[in-house]
Amino acid sequence: MAAAREHFGSRLGFILAAAGSAVGIGNLVAFPVAATKSGGGAFLLVYALFVLFICLPVMMAELALGRKTDKDPVGAYRQLSGGSRLWSLPGWLALITPFMIAVFYLVVTVWVLGYLIETLTGNLDMLATEAYFGQFINSPVVFVYLVVLMLAINGILALGVKDGIERAAKTLMPTLFVMLIGLATFVLMQENAILGVKYYLVPDFSKLNAEVVKNAMSQAFFSLSLGMGIMITYGSYMKRKDSIPGSAKVVALTDTLVAFSAGLLILPSIFHFNPQIDPTELSDSSAGMIFLFLPKIFLALQENIGYLGASIFAAVFFFLVLVAALTSLVSIIEVPVATLRDERGMERKKAIYVIAAVQLVLAIACAVSFGMVDWFTNFIHLAGSDKSFFDLVELIFYNTILPLNGLLVCLFVIYKWKKSNLDLELQEGDAGFMGSLSQKYVNFSLGSFIPLILLLIFINTVAINFFGYSFI
Ligand code: PFF
Repeated sequence: MAAAREHFGSRLGFILAAAGSAVGIGNLVAFPVAATKSGGGAFLLVYALFVLFICLPVMMAELALGRKTDKDPVGAYRQLSGGSRLWSLPGWLALITPFMIAVFYLVVTVWVLGYLIETLTGNLDMLATEAYFGQFINSPVVFVYLVVLMLAINGILALGVKDGIERAAKTLMPTLFVMLIGLATFVLMQENAILGVKYYLVPDFSKLNAEVVKNAMSQAFFSLSLGMGIMITYGSYMKRKDSIPGSAKVVALTDTLVAFSAGLLILPSIFHFNPQIDPTELSDSSAGMIFLFLPKIFLALQENIGYLGASIFAAVFFFLVLVAALTSLVSIIEVPVATLRDERGMERKKAIYVIAAVQLVLAIACAVSFGMVDWFTNFIHLAGSDKSFFDLVELIFYNTILPLNGLLVCLFVIYKWKKSNLDLELQEGDAGFMGSLSQKYVNFSLGSFIPLILLLIFINTVAINFFGYSFI
């Protein structure tokens, strides 16, 4: 017989765990850079509108699917569709997507761990050299770090929802908030910091175009961990007495505040040392920023606070990113764990071993995609360029499938499960929901323009990634 379903111990525990999932590398690096390059305050405004009016209803729908069924995504879709074959597809997509995103996110997190260790052992100067990143990602030590990281994540998962995921979030998330505020405060007190703040916040509406708006939407969707089966799974661990709309709002707000604060850390750091910098020159990729650009900025801090001070600053930053990535990885790997438990009746520990074994192999394939193994490095020729195995996983699962998964959530909830059932679930633990403006908005938007926007993004992404053509 299956064991009773595990639950988060408290509402705060759920909120911290879900915020732990949402706050990731995307918030700390991708968001500030995107904002700076795309119109500062104007981008922030568009982003905030997307979070509020598009992502929040989708998050509520995902949480409701999970809590209603007490199941993993595959089980949730199966149960609420009465076993329909067609509707089992989104369930499977909501399983394979997090599984594969975890694989390449693991590799990036391994690099963060490596950079933290190098900084702690006094090698910040080495990290700041141009050639180091390429050497590091192709050195055998990444495999050691990969195993260490997987042991930490799976160790947390093995302890279960309350004693593992929730306890880790309760310790790690407050630590993350304190570190972020501490670093941002320090940076804001430095000379020229205000230039960075200006660039980050002063709105330039002329930079807003269709592409920027699309990027803001994708960034918001990804940042809130939507379309990855995570919120369905975490919803299934929520208590019925807790409000889904209320909790979702707090999670979204926390995630957005962290992203916003990260900008107050990154931009002033850059401008402190390069008051003349043209922000359009900043790297678009998070990896480029974290591993190539920021180490140089951190090293330059030695002029003010000495090499030791600069190393401490850099170590706290890398630790911050590591914590953010770790809690995100815990949430994403919990999805396949929940599926094996719910669908195959496997014990938690056995499910963890099975998933870890497959992910280790795939993560190694990603890690050797940067030159170590030629076959994985030049894995496929797509839309006019060679792509590595790592690139391909990122392209398919991170870039392309997420909006499709979001679209399917909306269509399923409104047209198959039906609005009235969604309402009933959202009302549980939130007596004021029925009849509220929120209820009307959620119902209307999920059945109309939200799926439409997600569909357009999906079509455009497929056209760009696989056919080299963009509509916008
Ligand atoms: N919200 C996360 C981020 O911004 O990084 C998205 C995510 C990525 C969640 C990878 C989980 C994960 F493993």
